[in-house]
Amino acid sequence: MAVVEDGRRELVNLIYSQEALHRGFGGVVPEVAARAHLEKLPALVTEALDRAGVAPEQLERVGVTRGPGLVGCLLIGVGMARGLGAGWKKPVVGVNHLWGHIYAALLSDPGLEPPLLALVVSGAHSDLVWMPAHGQFQVLGRTRDDAAGEAFDKAARMLGLGYPGGPALERLAAAGEARRRPLPRPSLPGLEYSFSGLKTALLYRLRDLGPEVTEQDRADLAAAFQESVVESLLEKLARALEQRPAERVVVCGGVAANGRLRARAAEVVEAAGARLTVPPLVLCTDNAAMIAAAAHHAPQAALEVDPNLGW
Ligand code: KG4
Ligand code: ZN
Repeated sequence: MAVVEDGRRELVNLIYSQEALHRGFGGVVPEVAARAHLEKLPALVTEALDRAGVAPEQLERVGVTRGPGLVGCLLIGVGMARGLGAGWKKPVVGVNHLWGHIYAALLSDPGLEPPLLALVVSGAHSDLVWMPAHGQFQVLGRTRDDAAGEAFDKAARMLGLGYPGGPALERLAAAGEARRRPLPRPSLPGLEYSFSGLKTALLYRLRDLGPEVTEQDRADLAAAFQESVVESLLEKLARALEQRPAERVVVCGGVAANGRLRARAAEVVEAAGARLTVPPLVLCTDNAAMIAAAAHHAPQAALEVDPNLGW
């Protein structure tokens, strides 16, 4: 739950993390997630307004994610927003979650405006998107199979790491050396991604090592996996920049919290003569401020929940 001013400045950005709730299951349990939304949202509304020092009358509108996502959680969010809007007599606007990830960049970079090229990498998406103006999005490339975040999560599980996998794999990779146990770099023509082959390669390497696998082997493989995903993501970003020269580039979504991706993206974008914005970590992973920013700059009338909403 967040309160944002002019779609640019966060006044409050509260996150009730459900990580601990789902950790024991090794992943998000939809029913548990929906129930936790129902339990936590009302208190977060009050707390957000209190901390922002804002009265409901001062609000311009209520923004809420309508998709993509887990249907139970989306229904609770939209129901809640509809109720608040009716009670406060404020318009309620539905927001595309993916748009939100890009708008997170506007919160951290006051001068940023479209046109821009965005690499959106989350648990379910690896999309290269051209954004010519507010509310306009053109997908140039996407993944054929797993998303980058999903690949990180599955690789982490193979390496015996807990949930959420991405940050755990990054920590393990820090102790490893990618060159010692290199993994193939996925390569498809055009701007498409694919990570399922890389995942299988990791599985085979681990199987070949068998029970003899050392802590160093695991760290080396984690580093190699991270390197392959990051370089694959950036190779296509560089190619997209050749096809559609953009002055401004955004790398966003949960996977953009990855330190290696952040560092290499800076080099690749600079080499292409463009300027990169990567939101700070808390604005990369899912949060409400990015939804508020999108609701300000690109309000949508639709409030129908759509778990598979595309761009
Ligand atoms: O955007 P996000 O918070 O939620 C979705 O909309 O999916 O992205 C979550 C994804 C997860 O797959 C998680 O493992 C990944 O982002 N992630 C990371 C890191 N932090 C989060 N992947 C790699 N390195 C990280 N540091
Ligand atoms: Zn997300």
